[in-house]
Amino acid sequence: MNGSPRIIQGGMGAGVSSWRLAGTVSGLGQLGVVSGTALDQIFARRLQDGDPGGHMRRGLERFPFQKLVERIWKTYYIPGGKAPNEPYKTLPMHVKQGPRKMQTLCIVANFVEVFLAREGHDNPVGINYLEKVRLPHLSSIYGAMLAGVDYILMGAGIPLKIPDVVDRLVNHEPATYPLAVTGAQEGDDATITFAPRDFMTHGLPPLKRPKFIAIVASNTLATTLVKKTSGRVDGFVIEGPKAGGHNAPPRGRLQLDEDGNIVYGERDRVDLEKMRALGPPFWLAGGYGSPEKLREALAAGAEGVQIGTAFAFCAESELRDDYKRALLKKAVDGEACVSTDSLASPTGYPFKVARLEGTLSQEDVYAKRARICDLGYLREAYKAPSGKIGYRCPSEPTEIYIAKGGNVENTIGRKCLCNALLATVGLPQIRKDESVEAGIVTSGDDLTEIARFLPPDSLTYTAADVIAKMTEA
Ligand SMILES: Cc1cc2nc3c(=O)[nH]c(=O)nc-3n(C[C@H](O)[C@H](O)[C@H](O)COP(=O)(O)O)c2cc1C
Repeated sequence: MNGSPRIIQGGMGAGVSSWRLAGTVSGLGQLGVVSGTALDQIFARRLQDGDPGGHMRRGLERFPFQKLVERIWKTYYIPGGKAPNEPYKTLPMHVKQGPRKMQTLCIVANFVEVFLAREGHDNPVGINYLEKVRLPHLSSIYGAMLAGVDYILMGAGIPLKIPDVVDRLVNHEPATYPLAVTGAQEGDDATITFAPRDFMTHGLPPLKRPKFIAIVASNTLATTLVKKTSGRVDGFVIEGPKAGGHNAPPRGRLQLDEDGNIVYGERDRVDLEKMRALGPPFWLAGGYGSPEKLREALAAGAEGVQIGTAFAFCAESELRDDYKRALLKKAVDGEACVSTDSLASPTGYPFKVARLEGTLSQEDVYAKRARICDLGYLREAYKAPSGKIGYRCPSEPTEIYIAKGGNVENTIGRKCLCNALLATVGLPQIRKDESVEAGIVTSGDDLTEIARFLPPDSLTYTAADVIAKMTEA
């Protein structure tokens, strides 16, 4: 790939855009992006599944500080894999100054994912994080940089401090990140710190500085980032409300249509004239997965497009095969349906959900699940009456959330996306009563159009099919 990519395969968490998909896309000369969300869990679960194909081991062998690897391997690897009705090990949830073993796991898991995505070609690879999932940021980014990641892409928040973090980690210097703590006052310590040298067993030369691309939904936010960040923003993905995953909330008063979908208005339109004037290159996302939309983006001054949905349903994505097949069939039959759920995500951001039997998109599946919060990536930090920092999630058991000072209204319709999204990539937790966590599929509105990537008489397609279609004359 020379210069800027024309197509960015968007990061899709948790685990949907793994090293396999991103490596394939980058190998084909576009930008493949692995999801960095919850990689510590995903990695530990892959080891407990016996590391099919030996890929994790191959990545671990190339990690620069082998002493850190031994303990992880001993703790999580199960030869042949755990029994299907055995639960996965519960890891401690992330907190402001997390235990060393959790930080180590983040460094190693992010290293391995990027290392594997970069194998077999010389093209750039990116990693995607959600700004709101702050607690594991520093160790995760350092792990990805140790593996030579070329791009860091971050959305779902205002990543003002990331460029500075990246500049520090290049030289293995300590870095800090602000933790949003509800109720904190000035002077309270709400800073996450991370010192790479606490984990290094020998010296290393400076690392490559990855480019930093911020994912935003408004030109105002892009301008703020350019003006206020202490480092450099190398580009923007401008993502509209048709995109899969989390969407930006609409500006102004929340309005819903008769099906409960969020209505976006004129104020949510991005001023591309202002984006062009701002300077850094930009890519358009959210319903841009067609050659016509790519041409439209280029004509508007974009470098290209970021695409999620078309890649989420291709053969190389980690989306469970049965979910993938069922939704592709629905799309072909004209029965696919995607809605924008304003309640599902504990973050409070609108979240796109594809309707599919057996998943949390169905009211009965949601109602049947006992509330439990044991992964905790989307927890909110708050200042407890004792003055200490506590953590709560609106999808945890309601009485516990309220006891932590949470508002009961926040709990209505909230879904445990952490457990559901891991189930969606075939890594579901098994509960004491042997029930299995159900998944949830997030998808962009483009799911209804996905049949255009299917070769004749086929219900599967590859990442190469997507790229070929996108770049056809
Ligand atoms: C299954 C899925 C998961 C996604 N997860 C993330 C994510 O973790 N972080 C993120 O920044 N964007 C995420 N997105 C958004 C994509 O990266 C991309 O910007 C978006 O899908 C583009 O719009 P499209 O779906 O219309 O192609 C996700 C999208 C999908 C379909």
